[in-house]
Amino acid sequence: MSNLLNFSVAPAVEATEAPPIPRAQAWGVEYLENPTYGELLGLSQGVPKSAPHESVLKALSEFSADPLSAKYGPILGETKLREAYAEEIKIQYQIKNGEGNVKGEDIGITTGCNMAFLTLIMALCPPGKSSVLIPLPSYFNQMMVFSLQSVKPIFIPCDTLNSFKPSISSAREYLNSSDRKTENVKPKMICLVSPNNPTGSVYSHEEIKEWYELAKEFKLALILDETYRDFVEDDNGDRGIPHRLFEEADWRETLVSLGSFSKGYRIPGHRLGSIIAGPALLKHLTTICDCMQICAPRPPQIALSTLLPSLRPDLAESSKALSKRRNLFKEVVNSVEGWNVVSIGGYFAYVSFPSDYTFASSTIGLKRKKLGSEDIAKILATRIGVVTLPGSFFMPPTSDDEVWENDVLKGGEILKEDKWLRFAVANVEDDVVIKLGPRLKEMNKLMGMGE
Ligand SMILES: Cc1ncc(COP(=O)(O)O)c(C=O)c1O
Repeated sequence: MSNLLNFSVAPAVEATEAPPIPRAQAWGVEYLENPTYGELLGLSQGVPKSAPHESVLKALSEFSADPLSAKYGPILGETKLREAYAEEIKIQYQIKNGEGNVKGEDIGITTGCNMAFLTLIMALCPPGKSSVLIPLPSYFNQMMVFSLQSVKPIFIPCDTLNSFKPSISSAREYLNSSDRKTENVKPKMICLVSPNNPTGSVYSHEEIKEWYELAKEFKLALILDETYRDFVEDDNGDRGIPHRLFEEADWRETLVSLGSFSKGYRIPGHRLGSIIAGPALLKHLTTICDCMQICAPRPPQIALSTLLPSLRPDLAESSKALSKRRNLFKEVVNSVEGWNVVSIGGYFAYVSFPSDYTFASSTIGLKRKKLGSEDIAKILATRIGVVTLPGSFFMPPTSDDEVWENDVLKGGEILKEDKWLRFAVANVEDDVVIKLGPRLKEMNKLMGMGE
């Protein structure tokens, strides 16, 4: 079979990194050829473990079989779902009926949150002329979208000593700098993810409000990817309020909140996401969505439009269970010598591995001066059977001096230490988390630490 094309592929597509998850999954497959320590512990992918609620499964099968849902639907989603979702948001964010509020007409339904993000970048960022301020490390699909759309990411370094919160002072200094004003690439938005992928960091309302004020001051959009909004916890570990920006009378002028039905409602394969924005923006997104999706899949939209209120207890229960699992994870991992959970929340934990690993290449038979997170993640997966994602998957290559010097803002140098792994804690049961402790100890032995 020929691998050649008689036509060319767009340079921006050719230059974009291939999806990284399959690379990590291949390490797991390699372990299974010789599973020394027993079953493979898959902690790499942020997907829900359990099946959707049975009422959702039942409604999905009913509406998929209905010829009416095989027809095209409204571009920005079923009106009933938009209204029902607005109601859920009002309840979750405890929005008091004021000037702010969220209404059905502020909601757009897309074919997943990733598509919502691409749509937004297409709508707001002219290719080759736009930049976006985004925390580093960042979610790789967002970086891939920037690359595909020729949008320049300006990386706001996260504070490794403060739960990987992005530095607002670096962002402000950059936006105020006189050099920036002469550049022909202009910042269009600040893009945050809370709870974060990959770090699990959850930003407080006060922190999010500060970013909102900064965006407003510089006439930028504040994009909040809230895919994991259902897993924000309050002080008791119950489902909490993600932020209070929807109470701002003029939130529609600055804020765009993205959501997903993949995690809370556990239907990633049915592909439903949401955009909460003012109708003045949604009007333009409709144009793009018409070309990309015409409409989001209808059976899951119709199925959910009457079920959402009845699923609140299910959401609360999953959120609570995940909160407990995160606590267990912290306890297990922090008890192993040299391992440290540096931030955790939502679906993910960001974990630093023992610093001795960095110079253990001869112990492991590798000819390398230093070992980075990709080396460690690969050894952990192929030899010990624990699949995670290396922090390097969420950063530009440490060897790319040009990007680190020009596009990573002040304070980012420390991230080059590249000593973190992302663990996904949502798609495993507690027993897998418990088994993780002995495996990490085996890893320490393999890397020449301890007995
Ligand atoms: C931050 C973030 N945004 C978006 C998505 C994709 O969501 P969806 O399945 O709705 O496209 C993910 C999935 O992992 C994610 O982590």
